[in-house]
Amino acid sequence: MTVITFANTKGGAGKTTAAVLLTSELLHRGYRVCVLDADPQRWLARWVEQMGGMPGLSVDSYISSATLQRTMTEKRKMFEYVIVDMPGIQSSLLASAVGFSNHVIVPIQGSHMDAQGGAHVLDLIRYLDRSAGIRVPHSVVLSRVNPLITTRSMQAVKRLLSEQNIHVFDTPIAERSAFREMFDFNCLLRKLDPARVSNLDKAVDNASRYANEVMALVPASQAVEPARMSLRRENRLDTAAAA
Ligand SMILES: Nc1ncnc2c1ncn2[C@@H]1O[C@H](COP(=O)(O)OP(=O)(O)O)[C@@H](O)[C@H]1O
Ligand SMILES: [Mg+2]
Repeated sequence: MTVITFANTKGGAGKTTAAVLLTSELLHRGYRVCVLDADPQRWLARWVEQMGGMPGLSVDSYISSATLQRTMTEKRKMFEYVIVDMPGIQSSLLASAVGFSNHVIVPIQGSHMDAQGGAHVLDLIRYLDRSAGIRVPHSVVLSRVNPLITTRSMQAVKRLLSEQNIHVFDTPIAERSAFREMFDFNCLLRKLDPARVSNLDKAVDNASRYANEVMALVPASQAVEPARMSLRRENRLDTAAAA
C-alpha cells in the first residue's frame, strides 16, 4: 500500500481536483484505490456517492487522527494506493496524515495566498524532520495553470520553490473546464462526453502525464514504509506533533 496525501491549508488550491485526477488515472490503470476524504465538506466522497460508487474504489470520510491510524492498518492489504484529501484549514490531523504518507503532494496556485497555504505544509514537513527525524518525501504540483501563458506570479512561485530545493512536478495541472465538469456531471474525466466538453483530449493527456510522474516517484509497492508506520513504536511522531 502506498499512501499519498494532498495538503495545502488554503481552500481552493486544487487539492481535491489533483486527488480526483490521480485517483481516476490509477483506477483507469487497474489499481485498487482507497480515498480518505478528510475534508468535513466531503466534496470527494459526495462525488463518488453521486456516481453510485466505482469498482476498485473505496471512500472513507469523517477522518480523525484515531480513525486515520485504524483505517491505514485495515486497508493495508486491500489497496495498492491510499489517497488522503486534506481540508483547506490548519488541522491537527495534518501531522498524522503527513507522517503516514509515502509522499505528500502540495498543490500550489501561482498566487501569493496559495503559496502561503502550501508553505504551512512544507514548514510542518521540515519541522518533523528537524525535531523528530521524520523524513517525508514531498513535492509541489502547480495547479490551475493557464495552459497558454506562464504568468509572472507563477514564475515567482517556481523560483521560490527551487531556491528551497523543493521538488516541483514537471507537469502542472492546467486550468481546464473538463476538470470542473467531472464534478458537475459526476463522472470520471475519461467518461466525459468529448462533444460537450471542450479540449477533453488535452485534459486527459494532462491528467495522464501528471499521473505518470506521480507513479514514477511513488510506485504502487513502496519498498520503504511510511515514517509513521516505522516510528509508531517509538512514539516520536506524536511527540513532535504535540510540541
Ligand atoms: N485545474 C483546474 N481547472 C479548472 N478548475 C479547477 C482546477 N482546479 C480546481 N478547480 C476548481 O476550483 C475550485 C477549487 O478546487 P478544489 O480542487 O476543490 O480545491 P481544494 O480542494 O484545494 O479546496 C473547484 O470549483 C474546482 O472545480
Ligand atoms: Mg478540497
